[in-house]
Amino acid sequence: MLKMRWEYPDEDELLHSIISTYGGECSDNEYEILWKLAKQYGRNGYILEIGAKFGISTLILANASKLVDGCKVISVDASTLEMDRSFLYVPKTDLLITGWTRFLHYYKNLYLYDLYDHVISINAKSQEIADILDCFISLLFIDGAHDYESVKQDWIKYSPKVISGGIVIFHDYIAPVDVKKVIDGYVKPNPQFVYCEEYSEDSLYVVKKS
Ligand SMILES: C[S@@+](CC[C@H](N)C(=O)[O-])C[C@H]1O[C@@H](n2cnc3c(N)ncnc32)[C@H](O)[C@@H]1O
Repeated sequence: MLKMRWEYPDEDELLHSIISTYGGECSDNEYEILWKLAKQYGRNGYILEIGAKFGISTLILANASKLVDGCKVISVDASTLEMDRSFLYVPKTDLLITGWTRFLHYYKNLYLYDLYDHVISINAKSQEIADILDCFISLLFIDGAHDYESVKQDWIKYSPKVISGGIVIFHDYIAPVDVKKVIDGYVKPNPQFVYCEEYSEDSLYVVKKS
């Protein structure tokens, strides 16, 4: 039975209903950290999410920021552009679906959680639209394409848009190895960004801009 956003008056219940929605790729602990960070940092500018898939991280970021009257989420994903390439296996189900079907699930999730007014969805490759996305970012979540060149471009093109005091969260630090290579080669040597050890649990790597 599908439930609507307003059927979850309690914050913990809301968070756990999102985490249990199928299609998410972060651990429960990682989603709880994202939730906390979006409430803390999602107040000025925008939250920018690169890589939404079914929108589970979108639901986490947008619901958390909405709870504190925070900023909107810009959510970038290339899902429909992948429609001819392959079918995707949906974790915990028997579903094999295309990019377009995934996009419909994403939209359904935004609808169920009443987020159409709080999320700006962009269906494109993040690296290709960085120049026209003219915005200040208070929280940047990088979880899109995981190959070295794409992660590098996401960092190079979007980190300058992060405001002072804003944060950048990488998912999948360690594996696949390309994400780690970008963090070791570009993020760690950048003196403008300080490592946030307290939030960097599981495969999240978090830095704050000074
Ligand atoms: C790991 S999944 C994101 C999972 C999501 N953050 C969550 O936790 O629910 C990666 C997503 O990035 C998208 N993607 C791949 N290449 C991309 C690109 N160049 N720009 C934007 N999104 C991309 C894929 O379509 C996929 O939906």
